[in-house]
Amino acid sequence: MVKMSLMISAVAAFILLLTMVPLSEAALSANYYDQMCPQAENIIYQTVCNASIYDPKVPARLLRMFFHDCFIRGCDASLLLDSTPENKAEKDGPPNISVRSFYVIDDAKTKLEKACPNTVSCADVIAIAARDVVAMSQGPWWNVLKGRKDGRVSIANETRNLPSPFSNTTTLIQSFAKRGLSIKDLVALSGGHTLGFSHCSSFSARLHNFSAEHFSDPSINSEFAINLKKKCPIPNKDHNAGEFLDSTSSTFDNDYYKRIVMGKGVFGSDQALFEDYRTRWIVDSFAKDEKLFFREFAASMVKLGNVGVIEDGEIRVKCSIVN
Ligand code: HEM
Ligand SMILES: *[C@@H]1O[C@H](CO)[C@@H](O)[C@H](O)[C@H]1NC(C)=O
Ligand SMILES: *[C@@H]1O[C@H](CO)[C@@H](O)[C@H](O)[C@H]1NC(C)=O
Ligand SMILES: *[C@@H]1O[C@H](CO)[C@@H](O)[C@H](O)[C@H]1NC(C)=O
Ligand SMILES: *[C@@H]1O[C@H](CO)[C@@H](O)[C@H](O)[C@H]1NC(C)=O
Ligand SMILES: *[C@@H]1O[C@H](CO)[C@@H](O)[C@H](O)[C@H]1NC(C)=O
Repeated sequence: MVKMSLMISAVAAFILLLTMVPLSEAALSANYYDQMCPQAENIIYQTVCNASIYDPKVPARLLRMFFHDCFIRGCDASLLLDSTPENKAEKDGPPNISVRSFYVIDDAKTKLEKACPNTVSCADVIAIAARDVVAMSQGPWWNVLKGRKDGRVSIANETRNLPSPFSNTTTLIQSFAKRGLSIKDLVALSGGHTLGFSHCSSFSARLHNFSAEHFSDPSINSEFAINLKKKCPIPNKDHNAGEFLDSTSSTFDNDYYKRIVMGKGVFGSDQALFEDYRTRWIVDSFAKDEKLFFREFAASMVKLGNVGVIEDGEIRVKCSIVN
C-alpha cells in the first residue's frame, strides 16, 4: 500500500518535472562561451565600440537590429541573411523597416572566426552587440544569455509582421503577446526609442490629414507638431528628412518617457502608450524613475533574447549566408 502510493507520487513528480521543463525551447546560459571562446564578448565589444566611434548612428541601428531579428522567426539572425536569386530575404523586406550597419556584425564575426572557428552564432553576436550599445550609451548593462543557433530561412514578406508605428496599443500588446512578451515588456522595450532617428514616412501621417475630424493627431503636443511639420513638409523632396526619436538621441536615458508624457512621442505607437490606461501608468513610472526603467529594460531585453530561440539551427560561418 505504502509502496504503491510512493510509486504514484514518484510518477506524479516525474510528470510535474516534464511539464516544468520547456522541452521545445533551447536553454541559454550566461557562461555558454566561457570554455569554448572566453574572448568572444570582448571581441564583439571592441568591434562595436570602434564602429560607434567612426559612425555615431551605429548604436541605435544595432539595438533596432536585435528587436527586428527576434520578432521575425525568433532570435536566429535570419535578418542578417542576404537575398539570393531564388529568395528575397528580410533585409529587403517592406522598405520602411530597413535596418542598417550589418557590416559591424560581419566584422565582429570575421574576428570571432579567427579566434574560435565555428563557435559563436550570429544570433548571439547581435544579442551581445545590442547590450553593448546600450551600455556604451550610458544605459544599463546586463548579462546576455547565449547559446542561440542561426536559422537557415529568411523571408522578406514576414517583416510585415513587425508592429507598425501607426499601431494602437491593443495591436502592440497583441504583437508582443504573440512572442510571449508582456505589457510591461512592451512599454520597457519601446524605451529603445531613446536612441536614434526616424524618417518622415514613419510619422508624417500623424501631421497631415490625420482623420476626418482632426488635421493632426490630437495626441501630439501642438508646438511639437509644428516642429515636426517643418521637418517633414508636403511635398518633401528630401528622402533623408526626419526627426530624432529623443532630444538626447545618443544617450540612453528615460527622456523618451518624459516626452511621451508631454505629448512629444514621435510615432503614433509611442504616444499610444500614454493614451491607454493599461500602459499609461507604466510610462508614468518610467518617466519618474530612471533606475526602475533601466532595471525593467534590462530584464525585458533578456526576455526578448529568448523569443523563438531554435535548437536545430547552425553556427553560420559568415552571417550573410547559410553554411
Ligand atoms: C513597439 C513597437 C515598435 C515600433 C512600431 C517601432 C517602430 C520604429 C520605426 C518606424 C522606426 C524608424 C524607422 C525609420 O523611419 O528610419 C524605429 C526606429 C528605431 N527603433 Fe523601433 N519600433 C518598435 C519597438 C522597438 C524596440 C523594442 C526597440 C529596441 C529595444 C526599438 C529600437 C529602435 C531604434 C534604436 C530605432 C532608431 C534606429 C536608427 O536610428 O537607425 N524599437 N522604430
Ligand atoms: C575601426 O572602424 C573603422 C571604421 O569602420 C575601420 O575602418 C577600422 O578598421 C576599425 N578598426 C579596428 C581596429 O577594428
Ligand atoms: C506578401 O504577403 C502579401 C499579404 O500577405 C501578399 O499579398 C503578397 O503576395 C506576398 N508577396 C510575396 C512575394 O509572397
Ligand atoms: C486598433 O487597430 C486595429 C487594427 O488596425 C483595429 O482593428 C482596432 O479596431 C483598433 N482598436 C482600437 C481600440 O482603436
Ligand atoms: C510605410 O510607410 C507608408 C507611408 O510612406 C505607410 O503608409 C505604411 O503604413 C508604412 N508601413 C509600415 C509597416 O510602417
Ligand atoms: C488633405 O485631404 C484633402 C481631401 O482629401 C486634399 O484635398 C488635400 O490635398 C490633403 N492635404 C494634404 C496636406 O495632404
